[in-house]
Amino acid sequence: MFSSLIPAGIPPGELRLVDTCIRVSPDLLADLTAPVPESERQRASRYIHTEDTLRHLIGRGLLRHTLAQITGQPAASFNIDVDASTGKPFVAGGPAFSIAHSGEAVVIAVAGNGRVGVDVEAIRSIPDLHNVTRSSFAPDELSALNRFPEGEPRTAAFFRGWTRKEAILKALGHGLSSLHDISVSLTEGDRNTLLRLGIPGEELRAWTVCSMVGTPLYAAAFAWDQPVLSVRRISIPIDYGHQTQSI
Ligand SMILES: CC(C)(COP(=O)(O)OP(=O)(O)OC[C@H]1O[C@@H](n2cnc3c(N)ncnc32)[C@H](O)[C@@H]1OP(=O)(O)O)[C@@H](O)C(=O)NCCC(=O)NCCS
Repeated sequence: MFSSLIPAGIPPGELRLVDTCIRVSPDLLADLTAPVPESERQRASRYIHTEDTLRHLIGRGLLRHTLAQITGQPAASFNIDVDASTGKPFVAGGPAFSIAHSGEAVVIAVAGNGRVGVDVEAIRSIPDLHNVTRSSFAPDELSALNRFPEGEPRTAAFFRGWTRKEAILKALGHGLSSLHDISVSLTEGDRNTLLRLGIPGEELRAWTVCSMVGTPLYAAAFAWDQPVLSVRRISIPIDYGHQTQSI
């Protein structure tokens, strides 16, 4: 069973990142989604696109298996609730977690303590990048972005910034309305990229916002309201037992 790849338990001060791909083998798909209850499957089947259903089910399945490894409880036993005002999912009394999916990638993060957010985006060309950044990036980020050459370097920098910003908003449970209250660096690397946090009650120095380094096809980042002590990343191969590429 692939879940044996995920270490049991989680100490305070550890962040666990688990990723996989929606092109998993049929056997692995069945294993991954087995603990997802009928009510969640029915909700997932309402998505118009099959890929959205798959991304959602795999994310929820991956989360359940990870929570099971961490807590010792059965994967099907978790009651994944959704905050009525923000849409942020949570498990009452359980560890903080976050789910993200884009393209073929699914990533979850579970924290031993504190709040966590994760985001992933398939890097793709955005025809109206100028307008998108004007409405989502802070002035310092816009200046930094415009220093990247147009085309692929600027698009990649945009997605690095976007995933870093969205990860922290997901950790906070905010929607995208607070995008302008946060500034991150847009350069490559896995160090802490948070430059400014203008959200009342939040301390800049408490947070760690880092990119997850992987293939050039995806940008991914996590945000954690802790100094980074230990981050463990586990990639589930699409056909467990065979080597494959992680994001
Ligand atoms: C959170 C959000 C930015 C993610 O959007 P996205 O880039 O399309 O999708 P991602 O793959 O990154 O994330 C989706 C996952 O985020 C989680 N999520 C949804 N809303 C969330 C929120 N407010 N905070 C944190 N996580 C959230 C869910 O687990 C979801 O996946 P699932 O439904 O399959 O379990 C978007 O759903 C959003 O803006 N939600 C907030 C809506 C809002 O503004 N509410 C009003 C008051 S804050």
